[in-house]
Amino acid sequence: MRPIFKSLLVAAVTLAALPALADAVEDGEKVYKTKTCMACHGIKGARPVLSYPMLAGQNEKYLLTQLKDIKAGKRVGSNDPDTGHPYVQGMVDIMHLVDDNDLKNVAKYLSQLPPGKPKAMDPPPAPDLLAAGEKAYNSLGCKSCHGKDGMKPTAKNYPFIAGLNAEYLARQMTEMRDKVRVNGQSKLMFGTIKKASDEDIIAMSAWLSQLNRAAE
Ligand code: HEC
Ligand code: HEC
Repeated sequence: MRPIFKSLLVAAVTLAALPALADAVEDGEKVYKTKTCMACHGIKGARPVLSYPMLAGQNEKYLLTQLKDIKAGKRVGSNDPDTGHPYVQGMVDIMHLVDDNDLKNVAKYLSQLPPGKPKAMDPPPAPDLLAAGEKAYNSLGCKSCHGKDGMKPTAKNYPFIAGLNAEYLARQMTEMRDKVRVNGQSKLMFGTIKKASDEDIIAMSAWLSQLNRAAE
């Protein structure tokens, strides 16, 4: 084939694929808004309630694995002392409303949204605490997978961790250190996180939670 025809053909095929992507994102938005996700994770996945995770701008592959694992009961995590049930229970209870296709589309939708701004901590964290968090993050070697400042995961199934809720971050780190969260690729974290003390976890969570991906 002459190169000009070949490139026209490639362009035509690429253009044909675009509506499919737009449809998936649109369907994902519908799932997000109608299957109760928004009540807990907030408008456009960017303003979650309580200590729940921000989803906007997260890696699509990571999101999809977590959704499948939560639906299948593979990611349970620790109990919320206020309810006596796992933190994730309220989400598990609605997962019968979504099928595999919904999960694929909602992961696509969420991954292409702009990340939200960090939620201010009350009281504001002391500068010393933030500095200790940054130091622990860099010296423990978290960067090799989550990237500089938790903003550049080195694989598509690794999560962005900058700007997530501080309490959520601390809970996940502790659950992985205690091997309560073992789903997905959690095993990759075990060797590193076991070197983190409770103080390191509190400091890293405070520091990471206040980094602004929206400003990057
Ligand atoms: C009743 C509240 C609630 C509802 C409704 C809910 N979630 Fe969640 N979701 C949570 C909580 C709480 C967690 C974190 C659990 C934990 O601490 O381990 C979570 C975790 C997640 C995660 C993993 C995030 C990460 O960073 O690992 C994804 C993805 C997610 N939810 C997507 C959704 C989608 C999509 C829907 C709708 C189909 C939904 N959730 C509905 C409360 C909810
Ligand atoms: C060898 C790679 C690797 C290293 C090193 C690593 N992580 Fe992770 N981390 C992961 C992977 C992979 C996941 C997702 C696990 C899954 O699939 O469920 C994860 C998940 C997380 C989560 C949960 C995110 C969410 O949205 O629920 C936090 C928080 C986290 N890591 C913090 C850290 C910190 C802090 C360090 C350093 C002490 C660290 N990680 C070191 C690979 C790594």
